[in-house]
Amino acid sequence: MSLEFLTIKNFRNIESLSFSPIEGINLIYGENGSGKTSLLESIYYLSHGKSFRTSKHKNIIKKQQSKFIIHGKKSVNDLSIPVGISKNLLGESSLKIQGKSSQKVSDLAQLIPVQLITPESYSLFFGGPKERRKFLDFGLFHVEHQFFSLWQSFNKILKQRNALLKQKPKNYYDEIRFWDKEFVRLSVSINNLRLSYINKFKQQFFDKICVDLDLVKDLSLEFNSGWKTTNELTDILSENFERDLKQGFTSRGPHKADFSFSIDGISVENYLSRGQLKLLLYALKVTQNSLIETETNKQSILLIDDLPSELGQDTRGKVGKILAQCDSQIFITAIESDSISAVVEPMKRKLEMFHVKHGKLITN
Ligand SMILES: Nc1ncnc2c1ncn2[C@@H]1O[C@H](COP(=O)(O)OP(=O)(O)OP(=O)(O)O)[C@@H](O)[C@H]1O
Ligand SMILES: [Mg+2]
Repeated sequence: MSLEFLTIKNFRNIESLSFSPIEGINLIYGENGSGKTSLLESIYYLSHGKSFRTSKHKNIIKKQQSKFIIHGKKSVNDLSIPVGISKNLLGESSLKIQGKSSQKVSDLAQLIPVQLITPESYSLFFGGPKERRKFLDFGLFHVEHQFFSLWQSFNKILKQRNALLKQKPKNYYDEIRFWDKEFVRLSVSINNLRLSYINKFKQQFFDKICVDLDLVKDLSLEFNSGWKTTNELTDILSENFERDLKQGFTSRGPHKADFSFSIDGISVENYLSRGQLKLLLYALKVTQNSLIETETNKQSILLIDDLPSELGQDTRGKVGKILAQCDSQIFITAIESDSISAVVEPMKRKLEMFHVKHGKLITN
């Protein structure tokens, strides 16, 4: 399962570009501003239905043009599935899977899991819990089939509960009490799925991906459900009711879940160096991909933007060793083609290089 063909039109500085990536490592190299990140962005868009750089579609459509188009062929279980997405200046999207129009980006996302690593990704450890939840739930989305519909139902109820807390209409207390039964039922199911996923994740992370990595000595991973699970969530909702009413939102539940890493009780962001944090991030992403691969038989895609940036030769070798642990189709960008040899060597996989110049692929 991989992306075997890609065509991009009017996307950033790319007017028209087609290429056939290989299943192994695809190195995209070229000068600053040549279009490397844009190329990765288009692959990401084709799976997530959105960009990782902007929420404004106008920024993405090539200047002076009215819409962008991305077409790809994804090979899934020996089938070649054509997929396409386009968006115009008015923000109207068109999404096609196997020639049929679809409304659901999640159908596109289901086909091939695409994860991204950029030089900024290690902010996962510094930022708020939202990004970490997103990371975790990406794995759950692919591995636990019920997760997505449970999560959607839960969010509907959470929205309703928060609206009642904020607006306080007549009988709001009884209404909240009524919805809380479903809120609790869904929360417990979501949490059970997350706990089971975290257990599998920990095993894969500590026993497989990081076995040879000094970095993880004394490292521990702690998951927080979003409420104190030693108590009944119904009681916790009651205890927090007055506070939630004042704030106008629900303060406890699976929408507040988080996880953290620590070494000897000190959180990693306060202990590890930037390079070490980046290595840890690679290990997390590869763990996620290799878990998805073993649990679902789906091959995933890993997009790595500007890999060599800020990583020493020794760390690049370690990144290579980590990347060797998953079978993902890999896209790496770098300014110079020889800067990732230390990464590629331990991976022992086929490598193909693509040179980008002014938004076009050129043959050397
Ligand atoms: N909507 C757009 N229309 C036309 N060009 C754009 C648009 N958005 C961005 N660009 C330009 O596209 C070019 C490619 O940007 P991109 O970020 O892909 O470069 P890059 O190869 O990743 O560079 P770097 O090595 O500096 O990261 C840049 O020159 C940028 O200014
Ligand atoms: Mg770039």
